[in-house]
Parts: sequence; C-alpha cells; structure tokens
Amino acid sequence: MTELVKNPLIMRKVQEEIRNVVGYKGEIVSQDLPKLEYFKALIKETFRLHPANPLLVVRETLQKTNIQGYDIPQKTLMFVNVWAIARDPEYWKDPEIFMPERFLGSSIKFKGQDFELLPFGAGKKMCPGMHLGVANYELALASLLYSFDWELPVGMKREDMDTDTLPGSPSLETYTNSRPQNHVYFANLAKTYGPILRLQFGSLPIVVVQSAKLAKEVLQTQDLNFCSRPPLVGIQKLSYNGLDIAFAPNGDYYIKIEKIGVIHLHSSKRVESIYTPRSFKED
Ligand code: HEM
Repeated sequence: MTELVKNPLIMRKVQEEIRNVVGYKGEIVSQDLPKLEYFKALIKETFRLHPANPLLVVRETLQKTNIQGYDIPQKTLMFVNVWAIARDPEYWKDPEIFMPERFLGSSIKFKGQDFELLPFGAGKKMCPGMHLGVANYELALASLLYSFDWELPVGMKREDMDTDTLPGSPSLETYTNSRPQNHVYFANLAKTYGPILRLQFGSLPIVVVQSAKLAKEVLQTQDLNFCSRPPLVGIQKLSYNGLDIAFAPNGDYYIKIEKIGVIHLHSSKRVESIYTPRSFKED
C-alpha cells in the first residue's frame, strides 16, 4: 500500500483492473483473484522489493561441507540475503524501481523454485504458511483497493515515506544485537568481497550467501546440510525451547510437526477449503 501511495499511476491501474473484473458486486470473492493479472504482478513486485525476512530465518550446517571451493564447518550459521538477490542487476532490470509490469508474461514465481525471488525461502525449511499468508494478503489488499481511493494525508510528501525494509522476526539482529539493517550492510560488503561472506559474530561463525546461484546451492542442492536451526539463547526463549516448527532442530520431532504444518494445516487445498465456510457464514 505504501508503494501504491508513492506511485499513484500504478494505484490507478490496479484499481481499474480490480473494479473492471469485480464490477458492482460490492465485494471481492476468492474466485475473482486468479483473473487479476496486474494485481498478481503487483504482489510479486512487493515481495521482491520488500521481503518480510530479508535474510530468511537462520539455518545451521548439520555437517562439514563445501560451497564453491570454500570449506564450511559443521554448526556454521547460514544466512541467505534474499533482499540483495531480489535487487541483483544480473536478474532484474532497474532493480530499485517498483514496477509490477516486469512480472507480466514472466514465468517467475515466489514458490521456492526461482532462486532470484525467494520471499518465502525454499527447500525443507521454506515457509509452510505461504498459501495461507498469500490468500489473506491478496484478499485484504484487493478489497481495500476495490472499495477505497488512497492518498497521503494533506501536507505529507511522497519523499517523506520510509520504505526501508526492516529485519523480519526473529532476525540476526535478535540474536546479536547488531545494526538494524544487516541485509543492506552485507549487500554492500558483497560489492567488494563477492557474494559469499564469512563473518564472526563473537564466537559464532556465520556465512552469508547473496546470489541466486549460491542460494540454489544452499537451499536446494545442499538443502539437507543446511536444514537445521541453531539452539541460540534468543531462539530458545522465543520458541518454547526449540519446540515450535520454526526452530526445532532437524530430526524425528521436526519431521512430525512439519508434516502437520505443511500438509494438514497449510496446504493450498486446505487453505482453499477455508473459503467456503467463511463465505457461507457471511451470507
Ligand atoms: C506473507 C506472509 C508470510 C511471509 C512473507 C513469510 C515468510 C517466511 C520466511 C521467509 C520464512 C523462512 C524460510 C526459510 O528459512 O527458508 C518463513 C518461515 C516460516 N513461516 Fe512464514 N511467512 C508468511 C506467512 C506465514 C504464515 C501465515 C504462517 C503460519 C500460519 C507462517 C509460518 C511459518 C513457519 C512455521 C516457518 C518456519 C518453517 C520451518 O522452519 O520449517 N508463515 N516464513
């Protein structure tokens, strides 16, 4: 919504599409959403420029491994800078510009197969709530755009709006009490040192990868080496001592709760099935 208020032409274009498709029905229903091509492109562009977790959620190597000739010891913390990857000029023309049109006619999706766009991560630790999150997000945003016209309060200028991405939760900042925008700092370091960085935060060895090629290596080719979470004190406090799905270490317990989360609670089929009772209740 912030990007739309900053870019009124895009706002008008997407509102026109929504209002044309939905007509005078008065409300948007889930069946309308697949017909909204420009709106869908806008959602992708939002995920590209403003990922909720710019460094994904920290992973830990289960065993010693090697990436592009660099040895990575067991129990190294691994971050994937999806914020930087989604701005890589090798993949994106005018990467800093908010331009939903770039996705019209494009086959790039955000479902963990296209490594230049990873707002939900990829591989074994990918977000299990993607379908639920997107379904709610799309319906809410489309409804707000269908029913209302939006603009800045009188006296406020577009340049005054802050659209910097802040770290998702829980983030590197949570564990290390370090600078608030590590993803930006790491992306700048990559300009000098290349897309794979080895850092030391106190006693913690950290590796950050910042290219689509390396992301694919970590999240797909070597997914099984990078699919655990570290038992850091901050994480233990946030996660019932590592008993929730996000921070449980890899093992039998994780496999069991992952199955419940991914298949039984949040699969696309399950999310779609929620729409029917919800609209029934509204009637
Ligand atoms: C637009 C909304 C959302 C975004 C952008 C998002 C993004 C993410 C990202 C980037 C990760 C880390 C993936 C990785 O490390 O590779 C993640 C993990 C996770 N997300 Fe989401 N998420 C969203 C909505 C949800 C919802 C609605 C739920 C639950 C109902 C959810 C539950 C989880 C869980 C449990 C994990 C940890 C998975 C694991 O470690 O196995 N998310 N999410």
